Amino acid sequence: MRYTPLTQAIQGETVDAWDIHFKATSLKEKDDSVIVLSIGDPDFDTPPTVVESAVQGLRTGDTHYVEIEGREELREVIATAHQSRSGQVVTKENVIMLAGAQNALFASSMCILEPGDEAIVLQPMYVTYEACIQLTGATLVPVAMDKHNGFCLDYTALKNAITDKTKAIYFATPNNPSGLMLTQDELQFIADLAIKHDLWVVSDEVYSQTVFEGQHISISGLDNMAERTITLNSLSKSHAMTGWRVGWAIGPSTLIKHLSNLSLCMLYGLAGFVQQAAYTALTDPEALAESERMRTTYQRRRDRLVKCFHQHNNLSCITPQASMFLLVNVSETGFTAQQFAESLFEQQKIGVLPATAFGACTSDYIRISYVVDDQQLEEACTRIDNFMAQISHEMRLAQ
Ligand SMILES: Cc1ncc(COP(=O)(O)O)c(C=O)c1O
Repeated sequence: MRYTPLTQAIQGETVDAWDIHFKATSLKEKDDSVIVLSIGDPDFDTPPTVVESAVQGLRTGDTHYVEIEGREELREVIATAHQSRSGQVVTKENVIMLAGAQNALFASSMCILEPGDEAIVLQPMYVTYEACIQLTGATLVPVAMDKHNGFCLDYTALKNAITDKTKAIYFATPNNPSGLMLTQDELQFIADLAIKHDLWVVSDEVYSQTVFEGQHISISGLDNMAERTITLNSLSKSHAMTGWRVGWAIGPSTLIKHLSNLSLCMLYGLAGFVQQAAYTALTDPEALAESERMRTTYQRRRDRLVKCFHQHNNLSCITPQASMFLLVNVSETGFTAQQFAESLFEQQKIGVLPATAFGACTSDYIRISYVVDDQQLEEACTRIDNFMAQISHEMRLAQ
């Protein structure tokens, strides 16, 4: 049978990035000693009050069609929270509920990009951006963060990447995989360029509730940016709700109307009981306290892993300010990232992700996610120590 060119556009190299992850998860089913540090799915359960709220919704018949944009009270809560964090004036007219930040990214791209457009994406970049942008017919223009300078924004590279075809700049702050956040100056630079060249900015902020140090800044709150910014967010990471598929886009009301029309034919709104649960997640003190407990736990795990990697001369890691990931440079070991990840899996049964998939600037890195309990994390550190001792021994023999 024949398929459309769209099916090519959504294939991309990055779809293959998960090989070791799939191997690790499939072996884990038979062998409990496998430690999977290759995915960003929280190991926590969704807070009980959130689950209860969904169950209650189901029991009381909240099982019918819903408002396409999402329930007013939920969108109001999201608008108020974003306004208080960003300074942007937001009402429910600026918010639409979609099936996770992923769906919001896809839908937003469909509404702002078309064939012939160029969309700049700051790399490292979350793997699904490639397909989301390419399927609109637009061209993805990667702009690498400066890896020699702590993954800061490369101001010149960004400025030079803009052409008369550029339509949008995409980024995630905090970033997956680096866990770093764009600074006020960097965001202001992006905002100035966006205003000067009349560009959209797509700001993916799914890790903005999982910050350990520094301040997360939403570019939408900078002067004259609200009209051209689409902020994406979700409950996946902040409340361990990846499987619920609940997220949203915040943007100008006209964009929200277009997204609503798209959602009508693509999704027809999020399930009512899921929206009830989302409302609870964002308002119930116990749910909020649980979310905060998850954040401090990630921070503790991050500290443990950073300590582990700092002990090895041949490895260097960037201390993430947020998220649940850590990048480790393995180039000094003599292995490529792919080889390192494969050997670590084969010898120590630890699954990590070669960060090549996130862009050329992270090709020397592996991404480790800290979504396992303390006991497994401690065991992972011991096995990494053993693995590195073995590598150092082999390197000495080879000299
Ligand atoms: C940077 C980034 N954006 C978007 C997503 C998708 O999140 P959601 O579960 O809300 O669709 C992820 C998931 O890992 C992510 O890391």
